[in-house]
Amino acid sequence: MRRILVTSALPYANGPIHLGHMLEYIQTDIWVRFQQSRGNQCSYVCADDAHGTAIMLRAQKEGVTPEQQIANVQAEHEKDFAEFMINFNNFGSTHSEENRLLSANIYNKLKENGHINVRGIKQLFDPEKEMFLADRYVKGECPKCGTLDQYGDNCESCGATYNASELKNPISVMSGATPIEKESEHYFFKLPEFQSFLQEWTRSGTLQKEVANKLGEWVDNDLKEWDISRDAPYFGFEIPDAPGKYFYVWLDAPIGYMASFKQLCDRTDGLEFDDYWKPGSDTEVYHFIGKDIINFHALFWPAMLHSAGYRTPSAVWAHGYVMVNGAKMSKSRGTFIKARTYLDHFQPEYLRYYYAAKLNSRVDDFDLNLEDFAQRVNSDLVGKVINIASRCAGFVKKAGGKLAPQLPDQHLLDDAISKGDIIAQYYEDREYGKAIREIIALADIANEYIHEKEPWALAKQEGKQDEVLGICSLGINLFRQLVTYLAPVLPAMSENVTAFLNVNDLNWDSRTAILTDHSINKFKALMTRVEKDKIEAMVEKEKADAQLEAASTPEPNNTSGLSEPICDEIDFEDFAKVDLRIAKIIEAQHVKGAGKLLQLTLDVGEGKTRNILSGIKSAYQPEDLTGKLTVVVANLKPRKMKFGVSEGMVLAAGPGGKELWLLEPHDGAQPGMRVM
Ligand code: 2FM
Ligand code: ZN
Repeated sequence: MRRILVTSALPYANGPIHLGHMLEYIQTDIWVRFQQSRGNQCSYVCADDAHGTAIMLRAQKEGVTPEQQIANVQAEHEKDFAEFMINFNNFGSTHSEENRLLSANIYNKLKENGHINVRGIKQLFDPEKEMFLADRYVKGECPKCGTLDQYGDNCESCGATYNASELKNPISVMSGATPIEKESEHYFFKLPEFQSFLQEWTRSGTLQKEVANKLGEWVDNDLKEWDISRDAPYFGFEIPDAPGKYFYVWLDAPIGYMASFKQLCDRTDGLEFDDYWKPGSDTEVYHFIGKDIINFHALFWPAMLHSAGYRTPSAVWAHGYVMVNGAKMSKSRGTFIKARTYLDHFQPEYLRYYYAAKLNSRVDDFDLNLEDFAQRVNSDLVGKVINIASRCAGFVKKAGGKLAPQLPDQHLLDDAISKGDIIAQYYEDREYGKAIREIIALADIANEYIHEKEPWALAKQEGKQDEVLGICSLGINLFRQLVTYLAPVLPAMSENVTAFLNVNDLNWDSRTAILTDHSINKFKALMTRVEKDKIEAMVEKEKADAQLEAASTPEPNNTSGLSEPICDEIDFEDFAKVDLRIAKIIEAQHVKGAGKLLQLTLDVGEGKTRNILSGIKSAYQPEDLTGKLTVVVANLKPRKMKFGVSEGMVLAAGPGGKELWLLEPHDGAQPGMRVM
């Protein structure tokens, strides 16, 4: 029995799980279930990745503490994973005591070994927010081509890469302030000292060939020290003996794998943390990841583990990005599909099957073609696999519910059983598409057999009852082989089939015991066809969500929740076109079903009223607003939103969440007055 620990990358605790994420969790879960079906001891752990600036800012925006924010998101993540039948043995959080301790211990070892360097670096600093700005929080003009409104690391227009401090006329995305350059001490992990270790490790079969080749070039030429610290304010773990300095999220994220496993070990007899993490043991550790995070897992992580005296992973396996209908997932096209939206429309096993049917062991991108998805599930699972059982079960039931004492044409069953070896090898190698092709080929053979034998015709003839039972008993035995092979992909269906077949399990080894003279249970429908109109409904739902999100997170220089500065200049004539007026809020109310909007009725002077939908719900109760004066863009074309038409826009300012203030003129102002 092999002893294996498997991980999937830790999702950030600042947003929902989507079908891009799900590829990896489904890929990993299938591998883990396959190992368990083979009788191996295989633990699967994961956690939410709870640290970093983005999470800190998201919490501020929502008006909650980071701890509340990550707890809320974690609850949603866990629910999504459970419904997709992702069978984690432990799902932790990087913001756990276990992770705090392990991170501190590992850091201390790196330090003792002389692998930490401390030096001052200059960075852009937002003087208003009093924080250092990561590249994505700075915008300005590209230093190469002058394009406006470019992020601090690269230019979308000319492709140049640079440091944020090279941007012309930089601006902090947080506050709109002009950043200043400021020096602070940073802690670096001395990656270059691991060059020869990494040259060997990356080429020792731990990585896919294409990944090893790419990293190989890099490891030979260009290893730089890795900045593992961030200055306060930051949501993370403070570095021991360095007050005000925090571990960069990517330092403690992979340690989160260990911490989550530690939680599992602490509550599981016989599972020892050191057996899996100390060098020299015969256990195996595998990380499933996306191709965007290879460097963290195949350079920094093994080097850190090596320095700190832990074993390194047996392998790191990367997959590509999920495309939908041949293009990048897009919110506006409705193809950025959240796990929750999918689950509201379809059974999880459809997607598990489709992903499995097209997955291979390489880093290629994956196309989720929604037409093909429906077609494949309907034709393979409903039309071929389940069809075998539904054609045979009725005849067995008629004969008393017991399978025949002997099977005819047993070579077909022997072939299906012996195919189990190659199918197992494909699963082991993460060549799920090849495994599924073999399985469906077996389903084709079984269907052809039943088709040729026509038990339904024989059943009408005198004295053919034993023959009918024999054919259908063989069919049921073949079906059982297929479901055994599909069980890692279709756990719920395999459970129902276990009950139908009246067997203890559908493990890989138990498949060789043939079912004869064995009572089976009543056959119940195992899966319905994918309804194609639901695909459109799902995409439409995502489009509506995207519109709502856009409406309640308006572009810079209009209302509510601003986090981006005004970057492009406009001419005076453009400005003069905007008719800003004083307005009085006569009524404010909640909008049913809208998380962020309030509906305001405004007196805009001259006896006119306006209906405006405004994304200020996080900051105001409707009753606090009645009677208030504010400023409104009075000549904005009415906009049709999901929750109605909005006839203008009220002006508010602030970082968002509870910190969002409606502009309030002096008391003497009257509705209808122009704002100049
Ligand atoms: O890229 C991401 O989504 C990260 N949260 C993955 C972390 S994986 C591991 F290293 F923790
Ligand atoms: Zn440029």
